[in-house]
Amino acid sequence: MKNIVVLVSGGGTNLQALIDVQKNEGLGNGRISCVVASNHEAYALTRAANAGIKTRVIPRKEYGSSDEYTDALLSVLNEEKADLIVLAGFMTILGEKLIKAYENRIVNVHPSLIPAFCGEGFFGLKVHEYALKRGVKVSGATVHFVNEVADGGPIIIQQPVAVERGDTPQTLQRRIMEQAEWKILPKVVKLFCDDKIEVVDGKAYILD
Ligand code: GAR
Repeated sequence: MKNIVVLVSGGGTNLQALIDVQKNEGLGNGRISCVVASNHEAYALTRAANAGIKTRVIPRKEYGSSDEYTDALLSVLNEEKADLIVLAGFMTILGEKLIKAYENRIVNVHPSLIPAFCGEGFFGLKVHEYALKRGVKVSGATVHFVNEVADGGPIIIQQPVAVERGDTPQTLQRRIMEQAEWKILPKVVKLFCDDKIEVVDGKAYILD
């Protein structure tokens, strides 16, 4: 069984989607072995505890530089023998050392169709604010491998979602979560755990 370690910072609805799929149909050859939060207040910790999953907190505010934080995170991930790291609303940029150590073994869910509305500074509700300001008619979500460029790693699955007249950042966020994120994140995690994703020349492909 592959050890899935989920990194969270907030509400944890994507973590909940993973927990629900694990409980109902399973995550293939993987199981969520630990949830790591960047702050003690993250509600995701309660979701993990309710599901009987081990939790750890590495508070970002207790570390000065990004390198120090990355080192702390890396040693916890090594201790937990992570096979797959899932960024599910993790609001801290990972250092290069960690990304290199877990190349093509870290996935992130981003709430837009990359390369639109992504990169440094685009997170959470901000992404949807920009999408609405630009007046796009379609947005959605992307699950991708993490490399050293923010939101720049190989794209694994994308799911489009219609933008509706009168949408607010909150309503668009919710629709994208329900119709895209909560579906494609567990799907990618299961595919990864079943060795059904390959990366060739910086692009990801799903094997059938
Ligand atoms: C999700 O919409 C996720 O895609 C986004 O934050 C939200 C976390 O919600 N992530 C990013 O913006 C990363 N750049 P959750 O804690 O309820 O899963």
